[in-house]
Amino acid sequence: MTKNKKTLSQAIQERRATPSFDSAPIPAEDLRQILDAGLHAPSGYNLQPWRFVVVQSAEQKKKLRGASYNQGKVEEASAVIVACGDSDGWRKDLDLILEQGRKGGMPESYAAQAQSSVPNYMSSFSSGQMQAWLNKQVMLAFTHMMLMAEVMGYDTAPMEGFEQDKVHEVLRLPLSYWVVALLAIGHAKGPDKFDGGRFEIGHTVFGEEFGKPLKL
Ligand SMILES: Cc1cc2nc3c(=O)[nH]c(=O)nc-3n(C[C@H](O)[C@H](O)[C@H](O)COP(=O)(O)O)c2cc1C
Repeated sequence: MTKNKKTLSQAIQERRATPSFDSAPIPAEDLRQILDAGLHAPSGYNLQPWRFVVVQSAEQKKKLRGASYNQGKVEEASAVIVACGDSDGWRKDLDLILEQGRKGGMPESYAAQAQSSVPNYMSSFSSGQMQAWLNKQVMLAFTHMMLMAEVMGYDTAPMEGFEQDKVHEVLRLPLSYWVVALLAIGHAKGPDKFDGGRFEIGHTVFGEEFGKPLKL
């Protein structure tokens, strides 16, 4: 059962990386709404290279915890969304992407350009560049889901503390998959984590060029 729906501004201000969850199951329709938010994220050429494995069973959560440096919240969360990128996704999906795009009004000139430039661009990547590209795309969908869950009144915990090979083994992932991050969702148990604070704007934001303060 969700509680305390929030506006997006509230969710952004109040979100904390939740240290512990109460393990109550998450209703399927809520999970669907959260996943839909991720699937609506933008991606380069609309390639949507993300793939998500939703782990809810006690048995799989326990195994996933073992692949995540024994982080207790993996087992306590109502659901853990394992966010992956598929380095071969563009090969399999390009035709479908163009077909869907045409239905939504994609001009033929755009489709023709994508048909040649996507394979050129994607096949030029080294494996490190591919991982960086997948991280960039998948984290957008991940953030959409995290904020949607928070708006709906859930608590969340993003996680990068896992072992790539072990997660692959537990989830039986194809070799072309790259695990980007884990998103634990549920309701917090016990006190929330401290607020670590954030740098004030002048520390990280510049105006017009590096080093110049943005005048607001
Ligand atoms: C991509 C990413 C990975 C993270 N991985 C972990 C993790 O494995 N374990 C953990 O306890 N916290 C993890 N965190 C939580 C951060 O420590 C936390 O977001 C940060 O300290 C700021 O706190 P706040 O989110 O509560 O504002 C991760 C956060 C992000 C964004």
